[in-house]
Amino acid sequence: MCGIVGYIGNKPAQPVLFKCLARLEYRGYDSCGIAVAGNGIDLQKDRLRVGELVKKVPLLEGMTGVGHTRWATCGEPSAANAHPHLDCSGCIAVVHNGIISNFQELQQQLTDEGHHFLSQTDTEVLPHLIEKYYQGNLEEAVAAALKDIEGSYAIVVLREGESKLVVARKDSPLIVGIGDQENFAASDVPAILDYTNRVVYLEEEDIGVITNSGIEIRQNGSVIRRKEHKIPWSVDEAQKAGYEHFMLKEIHEQPRVIRDTLIGYGHEIAPIIDLESMRDTGTEAMLFVACGTSYHAGLVGKCIFEELLGIPVRVELASEFNYYPQTLAKTMSIVITQSGETADTIKATRRLQEKGCHVLAITNVVGSTISRIADLTLYTQAGPEISVASTKSFIAELVALYWLAMSYSIADIKRLADMLMTLRQLPNTVQQVLDNKSGIKQCGEYLAGYDNIFFIGRGINYPVALEGALKLKEISYIHAEGYAAGELKHGPFALLDKDTPVVAVVAKDNTYEAMLNNIREIKTRGAPVIALVENGDESVGEMADFVISVPKVGLIFSPIVNSVVLQLLAYYAAEKRGCPIDFPRNLAKSVTVE
Ligand code: F6R
Repeated sequence: MCGIVGYIGNKPAQPVLFKCLARLEYRGYDSCGIAVAGNGIDLQKDRLRVGELVKKVPLLEGMTGVGHTRWATCGEPSAANAHPHLDCSGCIAVVHNGIISNFQELQQQLTDEGHHFLSQTDTEVLPHLIEKYYQGNLEEAVAAALKDIEGSYAIVVLREGESKLVVARKDSPLIVGIGDQENFAASDVPAILDYTNRVVYLEEEDIGVITNSGIEIRQNGSVIRRKEHKIPWSVDEAQKAGYEHFMLKEIHEQPRVIRDTLIGYGHEIAPIIDLESMRDTGTEAMLFVACGTSYHAGLVGKCIFEELLGIPVRVELASEFNYYPQTLAKTMSIVITQSGETADTIKATRRLQEKGCHVLAITNVVGSTISRIADLTLYTQAGPEISVASTKSFIAELVALYWLAMSYSIADIKRLADMLMTLRQLPNTVQQVLDNKSGIKQCGEYLAGYDNIFFIGRGINYPVALEGALKLKEISYIHAEGYAAGELKHGPFALLDKDTPVVAVVAKDNTYEAMLNNIREIKTRGAPVIALVENGDESVGEMADFVISVPKVGLIFSPIVNSVVLQLLAYYAAEKRGCPIDFPRNLAKSVTVE
């Protein structure tokens, strides 16, 4: 995955392109480059991060340009493979995010026709194809070139002497930012928030022409209007605000995120969206589909919905769901995706719709692909999440699921009133965790010294253990596995010894006694135990090596506070190891390929 930008306007393009690219580094940062159209096309690219290239490049003249920050997929990270790529004449520059699956065949054809290639990338066929088809009209040449392409693309194309950019997308996200006498193209909204919050999302196979005064979008050759969205995020939300990392800032924003999400949903427990319109088949079951952290939110959601609605809930990984037959009769479907751009989740949504299901999407990004294709959308209010590891968006997804389940619950009024009160106190409860994090920091630093760690939980805290392990492994590179506590003895016990700590999430619910037994069994095998327990719990302290006390909350809400603790644990372990916390290797914020 990569980040692409384009700028055309009334300012020198170079500083704008670099600023936008720096905000897209969460999409990849092994190399980067810009091309600016001034006196000819000036190309500057290298195997460097954006901040390093900025220092190296002289001031380029020109108010139109394209830029790219790369996470190598086709061709190693190198200056030659960095984008932009040019045609033979050096007049056409292209930045691309996606994969061209038939590039070898096209490269052979173009080589036979006299084109000369300088990189190992799939992208380089694009400027050459555009050059081949160019007969005085850039957008027509781009459209012709794209007909030859198999695979996915979001592209921005620049040609010397033309005061426009041509953009196109298929299976990779691309937005156009609308400014005053200036316009932008970018892979994602945070890239352009310094300049504008007015955004048009390109749809599949749209081709657009951007000038400094407007955009014209075509679909199959016909001009088409796309809705403009006002993004409710400020540029400050996409800054580190004095924190060492975006992840730490985003963890600390969670009280605000919970509060804002609840304010957005209203004062009383009442349906916020018309789920009834989706129940026309007489719903007998529910299906949640998601990937990664959002999948873990779905697993917590299953416990909440089954308890509060008394309805069976299946939770599927989108990447698996798409590959085997499904029985979906009388099933209501909810897809969960922070970015709204995850390729597998989008594919699952389309598949569900083809099978006649209505789909509700829970997402954080206004105007994202999922919000445009789902039948209904419930937004979370996490604000822009920059760190690759999801934290605040996970908590916001949980709040959305609690609210949804509570608003359709069959539980009695007294229970719901109590739950509502607990929910409203959650921002303060989470704040208490954040204000007392020194013990968590110590435990995180202690874990940094190990290579293998298990996370265990039971019931509603089993997905919390999965999420804790995912967070730790992705940012600290420590091998971590989340397990249902009762399953350890069915295999993983063979791995337990003094060098394999176990983080146990203990809740004072019906799983409590069983968890105590599990911890006893683990201690017998010599493994160090770090236990998360409710304030005041004495029994676990006698067995565990370290205890992290978390504030008491109604049982069903314990995943929220426990998850915040595990996020901090992962953060401090990664910090101790000196890892690039916000941009872990090989990972991307939105996974736009299957
Ligand atoms: C992990 C993480 C990923 C995402 C996954 C799905 O911290 O962020 O596992 O949760 O890629 O992303 P969305 O929610 O955007 O569909």
